[in-house]
Amino acid sequence: MTTSSAPGKIILFGEHAVVYGYPALAVPVTQVQATATVSENSRGGVMVEAPNINLSADLADLAPDHPLASVIKGVFSLLGVSRPPACTVYLQSTIPVASGLGSGAAVSVAIIRSLSEFLGHPLEDEQVNALAFQAEKLYHGNPSGIDNTVVTFAKPVYFIKKKPIKTFHVGAPFIIMIADTGISAPTKESVSAVRKLWMADKPHWDKIFTRVGEIVWNARQAIERGDIAELGKLMDANHSYLQKMTVSCSELDQLVIAARKAGALGAKLSGGGRGGNMIALVTKETAPAVARALSSAGAKRTIATQVG
Ligand code: MEV
Repeated sequence: MTTSSAPGKIILFGEHAVVYGYPALAVPVTQVQATATVSENSRGGVMVEAPNINLSADLADLAPDHPLASVIKGVFSLLGVSRPPACTVYLQSTIPVASGLGSGAAVSVAIIRSLSEFLGHPLEDEQVNALAFQAEKLYHGNPSGIDNTVVTFAKPVYFIKKKPIKTFHVGAPFIIMIADTGISAPTKESVSAVRKLWMADKPHWDKIFTRVGEIVWNARQAIERGDIAELGKLMDANHSYLQKMTVSCSELDQLVIAARKAGALGAKLSGGGRGGNMIALVTKETAPAVARALSSAGAKRTIATQVG
């Protein structure tokens, strides 16, 4: 039997613009995890059990474009396994689905690691990342690759599509409060909505994405210097560009406003948007008041995570 876990993630800056080749910053969130366990079974065939999403099926019965089936078949194909041994792939996850916390990527990475080890050929991080990216295409349609990258390497990343992964230095640790609207919002939909906007007026949106890229670059510098006040302002600026991209919603905006009022240094939506999670920059002193304000403003759950 083999078991492997992968963390969730948050995008600190640059979601959506990252799909068009601009940089983004993301960090792992270890408080939430996806775990895959692979064990022999006596029934025969490859079984996939994922109680969180009410799935219990034979791999052979899953559609070829089912993300879980594609990940499992991707591992068999990469390792040249034409007759897979009878086994059960069991998935558990504390990462809410379609919430911007990288649940799809974490599930893929956990399966790839656990299954390749079960087959006696544990894969290198680069191979895990490449296979997880294939599954992201099924979840997201046109992903940048940031989710699978941050989840695979489980460290802060300064990410540019199709460029080698870069991490960044954190000058002074800071605390991010994550709050869930409870609204399930598939990333595929918001990514395709932004693409429609971009297709209709590329020069306009390229300008907006360039500004977001500058915010990301300045945010990286602020993180490296440990300039938390500046970081907060940059989060606010990034959120207003995300509003222009139509990927915020009233529930996210309410949480953003509540966090700022309760003393957060900055706040923005995180991930695909139109639901899912937002993040707020807090200190040890402001964290309890911000968490309370977020819950009163409708957050279904809050998680505090330290970066650096
Ligand atoms: C999703 O976590 C981030 C998006 O930028 C999509 C992507 O980069 O693939 C919205």
